[in-house]
Amino acid sequence: MKVNTAEFIISAVASAQYPQDALPEIALAGRSNVGKSSFINRMLNRKNIARTSSRPGKTQTLNFFKINEQFYFVDVPGYGFARVSKTEKEKWGKMIEEYFVGRDPLRAVVQLVDLRHPPTADDKAMYEFLKFYHIPVVIVATKADKISKGQLQKHQKIVKETLGLQSGDSIVLFSSETGQGKDEAWKQLLAQIKR
Ligand code: GTP
Ligand code: MG
Repeated sequence: MKVNTAEFIISAVASAQYPQDALPEIALAGRSNVGKSSFINRMLNRKNIARTSSRPGKTQTLNFFKINEQFYFVDVPGYGFARVSKTEKEKWGKMIEEYFVGRDPLRAVVQLVDLRHPPTADDKAMYEFLKFYHIPVVIVATKADKISKGQLQKHQKIVKETLGLQSGDSIVLFSSETGQGKDEAWKQLLAQIKR
């Protein structure tokens, strides 16, 4: 996949601010700090077009990036960050639901999980939420660079089993550090964008 242009368009907190050009959208989902923004940067060959941080809770709004004038990546605030008040969690829930449920241009969600650890209860709930609303999902198991080659298959199996991955849903082993899995991730995403 050749990325010719990648442009930050808008940081949105409500549907009135979403782009209106009806281009297909691919959104990210996953725990705070799992590597959603890093995934976008690696896929686009940009260092920090999507802002990253070693501290969880960096992304706070829905950030739309337009690629090759053809589709969007939508960076999304993470879930499961303990040091967040109940009011903030409710605000997050409302924003996420407003976007994920009934956003017409949304073609698929990349759900990131950390390959090093079994998916959390929040990860499972997110996967079930996407399934419930029939939103196509691509599971990306990231931070694969932290796992030795010999352990990759074992970790992949744990992710699949813990999530209860349905047949037909793909899982891509990925690393934003090394670029591992990038071609496979593009292949999966382009199939959804061109649908
Ligand atoms: P929020 O915006 O808080 O929801 O987090 P996020 O999911 O966008 O995570 P972000 O991309 O900001 O990355 C969090 C931290 O993990 C940063 O320190 C990244 O450098 C690191 N990181 C992300 N992906 C990888 C990876 O594939 N391998 C390694 N080793 N580190 C990674
Ligand atoms: Mg982020």
